[in-house]
Amino acid sequence: MENTYRCAIIGVGAPTQTWAKGGGHQIGYSHARMIEADPRLELVAAADIHSGNLRAFQEKFSVTKGYADYRAMLEEQKPDIVSICTYVGLHEPMAVACAERGVKGIFLEKPIVHSPAALRRLSQAIDESGIKVAVAHVRRYIPSLRNIRDELAAGTIGQPLLFMAGIDGWDLCEWGSHWLDAFRFFNGDRPVSWVTAQGRVRDLRGYGHAMEDHAVACFEFDNHARGLLDGGRRIGSGESDCAGAPPVMTIVGTEGVMYLREWLKKLEILGADGKREVIDPAGGDRGENRETTWAPYAAGMVSWLDGGDPPPTAWEFTRGTAELNLAAYLSMLRGDRIDLPWDEEAAAIDEWPLEIFARR
Ligand SMILES: NC(=O)c1ccc[n+]([C@@H]2O[C@H](COP(=O)([O-])OP(=O)(O)OC[C@H]3O[C@@H](n4cnc5c(N)ncnc54)[C@H](O)[C@@H]3O)[C@@H](O)[C@H]2O)c1
Repeated sequence: MENTYRCAIIGVGAPTQTWAKGGGHQIGYSHARMIEADPRLELVAAADIHSGNLRAFQEKFSVTKGYADYRAMLEEQKPDIVSICTYVGLHEPMAVACAERGVKGIFLEKPIVHSPAALRRLSQAIDESGIKVAVAHVRRYIPSLRNIRDELAAGTIGQPLLFMAGIDGWDLCEWGSHWLDAFRFFNGDRPVSWVTAQGRVRDLRGYGHAMEDHAVACFEFDNHARGLLDGGRRIGSGESDCAGAPPVMTIVGTEGVMYLREWLKKLEILGADGKREVIDPAGGDRGENRETTWAPYAAGMVSWLDGGDPPPTAWEFTRGTAELNLAAYLSMLRGDRIDLPWDEEAAAIDEWPLEIFARR
């Protein structure tokens, strides 16, 4: 009989979900449902500083062990896997604490870390401990996004030139990190050479940090393909989730173009061989379809801990998304292009760069 991995969650979320910008998305509940659905995972404990949130979560998922202090939970329960579902500013200290206490695997929420210094500390802790970190960029499992990666690798539209998207009313990190990660995923997680970005920051706050009202990032991969993400405004007019409206994402190649339409349901390919459509009946922009996103995310970790290959969400593939995200904000902060790897002055910054930008 195969063993099960004992799981714990840090940051469970409020009993009622909201998708408003700022937090309250109850992502801890998504992790709990994912764990419940996988026969190789067992949810044994949860930690949250908010006693009401913790109590409601424990009742809903029949979790008997609840803790206000996540460190006490790690000491007493010694979980194999920990889901870190708090806001970005807490990810690095919590992940490092897991690495130091012998946790085997982490399901780590995005945005990944809050600063260049935190990224360095976490990378070091991962290297030293061997802990397996899978970032919750679960959209890597969405069939239409996997199709784009496969079609690009097969050369259907030639060499990639541009990955482009606009996200109405959102930012470059809380929502935007998903699309930055998708662009990296499409392009084989290749290194990014430089990033240039600019943004409008006023008084907006959410997820425990300053947020921009509108920012645009442009970057180049080492194969000269470019990424363009408008965090704040859609590209084109009309509702992007309606049939016939502007695409959610556009990928331009030397010999064709791909449009991702109707909230990831329809992939339209105009390649050298003519026009073709690939329909994913599940679709879904938030990765809420558990069978196509959360289930393979869980299975990927189980197989990795069993000795299999790292899954597409593994640190070695997704770490670059944290770097890209932070580099965009560093570019705004400096008013200059950031060449990667960034310099030592940037590496020493230990604060959400947008926070510094917002104070100016
Ligand atoms: N992967 C995805 O598709 C996806 C979707 C939505 C949100 N998220 C990410 O999930 C994270 C959480 O967002 P949310 O909206 O679900 O949060 P939330 O507001 O619903 O819940 C956060 C919880 O963390 C708890 N918390 C705060 N400090 C803590 C501490 N020191 N120790 C233990 N618990 C603590 C809070 O009390 C709260 O219960 C964010 O980083 C967000 O970007 C990811």
